[in-house]
Amino acid sequence: MELEDNLLSILESLHDAVLVISKDSKIMYVNGAYSRHFGVPQNKIIGRQLKDVEAEARILQVVQSGRPLINDYSYVHSLGKDICANITPLLENGSLIGAVAIMKDISEVVALQAELERYKTYSDKLEQQLNQEIFAPLKSRSNRMRIAVELARKVAETDASVLLYGETGVGKEVMAKAIHQAGKRANKPFIPINMASIPEALFESELFGYEEGSFTGSKKGGKQGLFELANEGTLFLDEIGEMPLNLQAKILRALQEKGFQRIGGTKWCSLDVRIICATHRDLRQLIKQGSFREDLYYRLNVVPIHIPPLRERRDDIPFLTSQVLANLNPKYQKYVTVLEEVYDIFANYHWPGNVRELSNVLEHMIAICTKNSLTAEDVPHYIRIKKETEDKPDVFQQEVTPNHVNLSLNGLKQKVEKELIEEVIRNSKNRTEAIRKLGMSRKSFYSKLQKYGLA
Ligand SMILES: Nc1ncnc2c1ncn2[C@@H]1O[C@H](COP(=O)(O)OP(=O)(O)OP(=O)(O)O)[C@@H](O)[C@H]1O
Ligand SMILES: [Mg+2]
Repeated sequence: MELEDNLLSILESLHDAVLVISKDSKIMYVNGAYSRHFGVPQNKIIGRQLKDVEAEARILQVVQSGRPLINDYSYVHSLGKDICANITPLLENGSLIGAVAIMKDISEVVALQAELERYKTYSDKLEQQLNQEIFAPLKSRSNRMRIAVELARKVAETDASVLLYGETGVGKEVMAKAIHQAGKRANKPFIPINMASIPEALFESELFGYEEGSFTGSKKGGKQGLFELANEGTLFLDEIGEMPLNLQAKILRALQEKGFQRIGGTKWCSLDVRIICATHRDLRQLIKQGSFREDLYYRLNVVPIHIPPLRERRDDIPFLTSQVLANLNPKYQKYVTVLEEVYDIFANYHWPGNVRELSNVLEHMIAICTKNSLTAEDVPHYIRIKKETEDKPDVFQQEVTPNHVNLSLNGLKQKVEKELIEEVIRNSKNRTEAIRKLGMSRKSFYSKLQKYGLA
């Protein structure tokens, strides 16, 4: 077969549309595929000036510049189509004589892409709504609480370790669960471990599990530890300040190495968990006393969130009451409401047990109430007596600055990271110690110093 003779029939048999123009932008040739795809008969277009047909055509740029355009996307108005084209200049003896475009109609792909975009926006909106619902129980009128919730909402999208500070009963576990549910690990387990309630001797086996026969009394077949159960999900280490020092070292190692071994085992279990911790104690104080490891503290305190005590957000009492009643009313099969006089008394009480105490008081009141509404008389006596001296300040004075809230997620992470590095450097004898505490490589430590202008 003589290729040159058959060139035209080759072009005619192509599936892709071909357009050839001369140097002065006259349309010299379009193939059959061009006519089929774009509904323009060959004899109606060949010989015309492309400028008159499609003034914006990209092939015109190519004859002008002599430079090819590869995988070029454009919308062709005269055809009403999205086109992907490879356009190359045509040369004869080194001089430009025109250009050729091989084109694909990608209108369908573009339409699908637009539809995908629409679905993505829709699913983002749904996700946002869900996120709103998840954090709805933590709604507050207090600025400090709103800041805490806003931070929680933001970190939920990341895998960053969160340390929740707050007095007993403020809702640390409620917030930890919300962070888990609003994050990517929502349909994986949320495993709470209360460090204050596990006897010290059992800590290790509870957390890391054990292999069969590793100690007297061990179960047949061994036992999975809470770390294994939490894999791919979230581990909520509650009352972290109560953890004995030797266990702190083991947990730190597991977190740094992203894995551990069961007691008496040799198999390596890799660990992929998000860590949320909570404490009602001042960990810095514990570090000073030598009962909490500083390196573990920095590891866990990536994003600290302070939940203020109820006495500093008394305006929230009516809303919290309505939430507690929504749970209690069905339980007691009573549908009681609360009179304003009750809120007046509640507003003067100092709530040392915070939301938990409020919930217990309401439960007590409902249990003994014989009417349809809770009145001042139903309020336990000790709550009615206001003690002037009891409004002690929150132990967690350190405020989260409101600036945090306006930052983007990335901005927030960087700000927290910068502050953390500054703090560690301040509290270390030298840089080597700071690097060890931060658990970073020397190289990334110095590149972060550069990045944050701390060098
Ligand atoms: N925003 C809220 N809405 C409804 N109930 C709440 C809210 N916050 C806390 N509670 C209730 O208060 C009680 C204490 O909450 P949670 O266990 O989360 O507190 P905590 O800070 O973890 O306390 P502790 O330090 O004693 O462990 C729980 O019964 C919880 O359901
Ligand atoms: Mg708790």
